[in-house]
Amino acid sequence: SVNAQDGAVPDSLVIVSNREPYSHERGDDGEIRVQSAAGGLTSALDPVMQSRGGTWVAWGSGDADMTVAHEGIVKVPPSDPAYDLKRVPLSDAAVQGYYYGYANQVLWPLCHEDTGRMWAEPAYWEQYRAVNEQFAEAVDTVADAGQPVWFQDYHLALAPKLLRERRPEARLLQFWHIPWPAPSVFQHCPHSDALLDGLLACDVIGFHTAGYAEQFLHCVDSAFSAATIDTDTGTVTRNDERTRVVANPLGIDAEGVRDRARAADVGSIRDTVLGGSRSDTSIRLALGVERLDYSKGIPERIEALAHLWDRRPDLRGEFTYVQKASRTREGIAAYRRYRADVVDAVERVNDRFGTDDWQPIVYTEATLDNETLAGLYRAAEVMVVTPHRDGMNLVAHEYPVACVDGDGALVLSELAGAATHLDGALTVNPHDIGAIADTIERALELEEADRADRLARLQQSAEALDSSQWVARQFSPGQSP
Ligand code: G6P
Repeated sequence: SVNAQDGAVPDSLVIVSNREPYSHERGDDGEIRVQSAAGGLTSALDPVMQSRGGTWVAWGSGDADMTVAHEGIVKVPPSDPAYDLKRVPLSDAAVQGYYYGYANQVLWPLCHEDTGRMWAEPAYWEQYRAVNEQFAEAVDTVADAGQPVWFQDYHLALAPKLLRERRPEARLLQFWHIPWPAPSVFQHCPHSDALLDGLLACDVIGFHTAGYAEQFLHCVDSAFSAATIDTDTGTVTRNDERTRVVANPLGIDAEGVRDRARAADVGSIRDTVLGGSRSDTSIRLALGVERLDYSKGIPERIEALAHLWDRRPDLRGEFTYVQKASRTREGIAAYRRYRADVVDAVERVNDRFGTDDWQPIVYTEATLDNETLAGLYRAAEVMVVTPHRDGMNLVAHEYPVACVDGDGALVLSELAGAATHLDGALTVNPHDIGAIADTIERALELEEADRADRLARLQQSAEALDSSQWVARQFSPGQSP
């Protein structure tokens, strides 16, 4: 049977996530366009599903292509169908309460240890529960008996338990892509016990780092006195159910990033991105790439850069910082404000230090294809990744791999999951504006041998984690590091 109780990755599986890997939209011209979603989660799992087959269940209306969809199921990828995509349509109220509400105004700030931003309206929890039920129901209609079901991320903490009630024998897994907080933070959550209870219906729960897994076990320990926890193996036993809690870091498709970086026309990418600012090759570049999320530490970084240009006038006209930013979750006021703050900060710094032919910070919200992004990584001498908290941060993994010319330095927050896996970064406290300035300066001045050695170590550690191993470890938790 494919019910791989003790290990091996099954031939076919069901993946459940909030985001869909492909979306179909009907353009103004009436033509249907397919877009593949950006983001670590979908780009790691799509190849897995393409090689194994099965069904991916995700939020989506698919209105545009209902002509080809049967019961909300379409074959993807459209160019070379390999698996089924089952779309779960959500009402506007559900999207407001579940996605903009509970997932992104309760769980996201909670897990990023930013409890001051939590806002828990009653409707948020109701909708979160209802949508998790909707997902469990959808899975129940598509999953074959014996097919394991793998839930992804913080949108789906209750669905495992809701599915377990329908399918007592199913093998259920969950991977939590964001941090898991300490018990002293988790206790801020009004629904802490229900969330743990929902997740513990899984046979395996994975986290990016051993630290998150440990904190999860501590939370279970403080919530349920009747649970038995074996910390050596990360096993929770409760109500005769056993759950393995594992550290299982997700990596990137290193070969793909390297190939795209090699293929990129770095000169023209520099010219395009730098636009009106000086773009000649003597300009040294630092780069930041993120969604406009308040966990990312962008204002502190901009302030740090201002300190640097202030005390190092020789870097003005010589050193440019490129901020690639993506608009995100704008139905939430905190995200709209954050974007406005970042844009203001950029303008202030540019007004203060900019000259006729040089702009200190080049800010862009343009959507870049993966090849342009890889070329931009390659063009940047320094990459700056300074989130307050970040589950992993795959940009930090992609950057060194894209540095195919053997030149590049990474300034990395010690509070990103990536800091526990990547060797060779210059780490920094993301709140310490002075230290960020010093560390960017240091990155620009590393001696050649040190720089090369660090980059080699970064590349090695980023390449050591790939998504097929990640999948295998999730299904064989006994062999986890
Ligand atoms: C994080 C989450 C993902 C999410 C992504 C983009 O990486 O872990 O689950 O898909 O952010 O956010 P969005 O709200 O646009 O899906």
